[in-house]
Amino acid sequence: MTCRKRSKAASNAWQGITGPCGDRAREMCARLYTTVNSLADGRCFGVEIGPVTSTTHSTEAAVVKRIGIIGVGEIGRAMVTGLCDGDRTEVFLSPRGARTAAELAGRCETVQVCADNQEVVDRSELVIIAVRREDRHEALAGLRVAGDKVLVNVMAGVGNDDLRQMLATEAPLVRAIPLPAIRERRSLTVTWPSHPAVNSLFERLGYSRSRTRRPSTSSPL
Ligand SMILES: NC(=O)c1ccc[n+]([C@@H]2O[C@H](COP(=O)([O-])OP(=O)(O)OC[C@H]3O[C@@H](n4cnc5c(N)ncnc54)[C@H](OP(=O)(O)O)[C@@H]3O)[C@@H](O)[C@H]2O)c1
Repeated sequence: MTCRKRSKAASNAWQGITGPCGDRAREMCARLYTTVNSLADGRCFGVEIGPVTSTTHSTEAAVVKRIGIIGVGEIGRAMVTGLCDGDRTEVFLSPRGARTAAELAGRCETVQVCADNQEVVDRSELVIIAVRREDRHEALAGLRVAGDKVLVNVMAGVGNDDLRQMLATEAPLVRAIPLPAIRERRSLTVTWPSHPAVNSLFERLGYSRSRTRRPSTSSPL
């Protein structure tokens, strides 16, 4: 087993490893593997432990230039920080969590705070939903989401079927589990199902992997 890249695990639990990996690294990798519950092809967050299958590749055409975020808390802030890298991608934030949203908009000229969640949707090509599970109805009820948008659901424990029913939209829905290291563009983000624009986004913010099979109902993804 050989480590391929420095990496950082969920909640900074696993520090980067370089050089040949020993038992400790193998054990940590296995733990992370369990955490993200999806790297079924034997490759664990930059550590090669078996045959590597194709990773997700983005294409120029799949790169979105206007990204909305509904729910600017811990993970929302981390994603905005990662996106604020000098690229011209515009980021539209929901107004709740006003202090954080204002701070991010002050720090990064491509970030704007919207008047309400509908404006976030209307101005964005891709919208990330990052509110707490219990806040989803209040945050999303009544939103109109056109079929040409892409929605990314990062809420733990909220399936895409639930979300589609709530939003009554034809738009593609993708579930994703970003890690806090996304702020440094070092998150391994697992997604389902694969979508080129979403793969491209999370590759920009670290690494992106898509599940090859539909997650079970007990899976975090
Ligand atoms: N934290 C992580 O590492 C992580 C990783 C992957 C996925 N997630 C998922 O991401 C979601 C958010 O987690 P978090 O840790 O970032 O939680 P958080 O820090 O509590 O942030 C949630 C944010 O949503 C805002 N919010 C609440 N109701 C809203 C509404 N109606 N419209 C717009 N925004 C609203 C909250 O604003 P107020 O502060 O004003 O209530 C808060 O800023 C959860 O579903 C979690 O499962 C988290």
